[in-house]
Amino acid sequence: MSDAGTAPRGVGVVVVAAGSGTRLGAGIPKAFVDVGGRRIVDWAVDGARAVPGVVHVVVVVPPAYVEMPIPPRRDVDVEPDPELTEALYAGAAADRVPVTVVAGGAERSDSVRAGLAALGTDIDIVLVHDAARCFTPAAVYERVIAAVVAGDRAVVPGLAVVDTMKVVGPDGLVVYTPDRSRVRAIQTPQGFARVALEQAHASGVHASDDAMLAEECGIPVRVVDGDPLAFKVTTPADLDQAHKLLASAPTLWVIGGLPGTGKTTAGRVLAAEEGATHLRVDSIEVALLGAGIDEVTSEGYAALYAVARDQLRLGGSVVADLVNPIPLTREALRAVARDAGASIREIQLVCSDAAEHRRRVENRAADIPGHRLPTWADVEARQFEAWPESVTIDTAGLDVEAIVRQIRGRVPEGRG
Ligand code: CTP
Ligand code: MG
Repeated sequence: MSDAGTAPRGVGVVVVAAGSGTRLGAGIPKAFVDVGGRRIVDWAVDGARAVPGVVHVVVVVPPAYVEMPIPPRRDVDVEPDPELTEALYAGAAADRVPVTVVAGGAERSDSVRAGLAALGTDIDIVLVHDAARCFTPAAVYERVIAAVVAGDRAVVPGLAVVDTMKVVGPDGLVVYTPDRSRVRAIQTPQGFARVALEQAHASGVHASDDAMLAEECGIPVRVVDGDPLAFKVTTPADLDQAHKLLASAPTLWVIGGLPGTGKTTAGRVLAAEEGATHLRVDSIEVALLGAGIDEVTSEGYAALYAVARDQLRLGGSVVADLVNPIPLTREALRAVARDAGASIREIQLVCSDAAEHRRRVENRAADIPGHRLPTWADVEARQFEAWPESVTIDTAGLDVEAIVRQIRGRVPEGRG
């Protein structure tokens, strides 16, 4: 392609979620079925939004669901405005990837066309993704995008098949047996140069995937590696698999808040109960100072991210105990969870009773040798920005068991 290798281009994702889910038979459209406390479509949209380079996501839903409020990412405490279907996923933060919700059609290809028409004009690479493949790892998106950026007009992820495949005629007789080593089971996201996808869909015909329409236009389609985690939730057994996957995924518990709000006390108990690793940034920072670093700013946080990533990748859950004061540190932790395929739970501890808070800060003794504890004046001066993605727990008057109970009970699960 003439434009191969030029500056990065806008990537948009069309998430098709307008099917009825006949084979799943849940009684509601498949994409709106709950998995681990969130709908399939929410997992899929979060996954798409987390991919580097993606600047717009269009979700295509059954017409009856277009007006239905879709909650902002992982944010349960914000009342969604029913007037505002558009950009609902954008939540409070303007720097989030915007999400547009549109109505789909009778056939999958109709839904794709509806989504394509709603993509911003700045988009010139389009990925079409089945909402039903709600746990597709970011790496699959990245491989597809990289191939399109490198010049392929159509790119699909595929997996080798284990069974022998046969093409069967309407009479039930085998027509032929393709060489299994050359067969791939094709997944989504399927990536296209926008003009190629528009050309492929111009005929208005239907196909079970978009690449087939491109093939019919003579557009070469490249296959890159897919991933078993990009499986499509189709039958009740697949839904079971999705539930099991979530249950077995490690969790990054982020316990943030000002000093003296109870992070370490609660974090230790939570970690013990969860069999998780307790990563306390205070310990890391004191160690760095003891090792000769004059002053720590972000070094302790950076070390914590790295150790958390290693632990999560091994499948172990982590309780991160740190103030986590600004969007930058929060996003860094989300990126860690994302990288590791872990769930993330963001909790902010506060103490609404200033007198009690001050007492806690002033009456505690350092439990890490060499730890200089913050004074009440330090705590009052400490910068802490609004954290709308977190669940806030007021620890005033609560004992540690009650705090941990609230942490477990109230925190919605998200994916990094
Ligand atoms: N899809 C869509 N519009 C349609 C049909 C399907 O947006 N008219 C979407 C589905 O929501 C799904 C993806 O295309 O995310 C793949 O389709 P499939 O797995 O077949 O989903 P359903 O058609 O909903 O399921 P079934 O075929 O069992 O009814
Ligand atoms: Mg279908």
